[in-house]
Amino acid sequence: MKAATDLPPVGRHAGQPARRHLLSVADLGADGIEEVLRVTDSFVEVSGRAIPKVPALRGKTVVSLFFEDSTRTRLSFETAARRLSADVMTFSAASSSVNKGESLRDTVETIEAMGIDGVVVRHAGSGVPWQVARWLRQAAVINGGDGWHEHPTQALLDCYTITRMLAGAPAHEGGPGSLAGVRIAIVGDIRHSRVARSDVLAFSALGAHVTLVAPPTLLPPSLAGWPVEVSHDLDAVLPTLDVVYLLRLQQERMREALLPSLREYTATYGLTSTRARLLPDDALIMHPGPVNRGVEIAAEVADQPSSVITRQVANGVAVRMAVLYLLLGSGVDLAA
Ligand code: NCD
Repeated sequence: MKAATDLPPVGRHAGQPARRHLLSVADLGADGIEEVLRVTDSFVEVSGRAIPKVPALRGKTVVSLFFEDSTRTRLSFETAARRLSADVMTFSAASSSVNKGESLRDTVETIEAMGIDGVVVRHAGSGVPWQVARWLRQAAVINGGDGWHEHPTQALLDCYTITRMLAGAPAHEGGPGSLAGVRIAIVGDIRHSRVARSDVLAFSALGAHVTLVAPPTLLPPSLAGWPVEVSHDLDAVLPTLDVVYLLRLQQERMREALLPSLREYTATYGLTSTRARLLPDDALIMHPGPVNRGVEIAAEVADQPSSVITRQVANGVAVRMAVLYLLLGSGVDLAA
């Protein structure tokens, strides 16, 4: 096992205070994202060891405070914290005093009183992690997904996966932290997707060219200020891409019928086997999960070699180790 002193150096910038929280991709900027990606390389190496554990956060306590269903994000953060030797507390709204009427503020203050260092917050309400950050006196807050708003660690693991998978490919003009020249389409239910919002911020900060492909009903009401192009013709966009990023139809967030039928959606916007053949040979197929096989992506396409969906999940643990390490363990700033 490596000693804590062997962990990746992080570039503190003179005169800057340590950043306490990770709430939005916008807080990081390109330099902050690149720093996370660089530190992630070390934790990918740690994750490949026979005993994938380092003592960096020994004595620290990380709480996962999840008010919304999650499989991969919660397990990923908890695995990351354990691999850094932190103690992990799990809060699940379904089995907590929230059901007895306890307010969010009381829940948060009760947890902080137990002596904690970091909280990963997932909530159906956009902005809740910012509110939690205002209530906490010391602990760091990491946004694990708020409403339709942001999911910054998903964007970081997506940037990590793309930059490392495309390293050396002709599309990849920039260095290891850059997406300059890379053409990415995000396809599907952009309107309800916090992943899309964080990914657009992160991909464009690193220099990628981003196209949103969706029916008008599944786009946000206004795209003013979004650094993207929009298309409704997936077949025309696919041959131009380095990465196609599919999103789940988030039916639990749809308050009205936005689609004639799932079958029609799949026929027009689903990555079917026939459509996947329009992609260049070396293009990557990505999805944040959970996947609705047969709706936004055909089962056989999700399983083909150019689909890096499970690679995204594996990289997610290392990225979250990097974020926890930078916020709780290193005492340095994530931003440039
Ligand atoms: C996403 C989420 O919950 O925002 N999943 C994830 O975290 N990997 C996307 C989704 O729910 O479709």
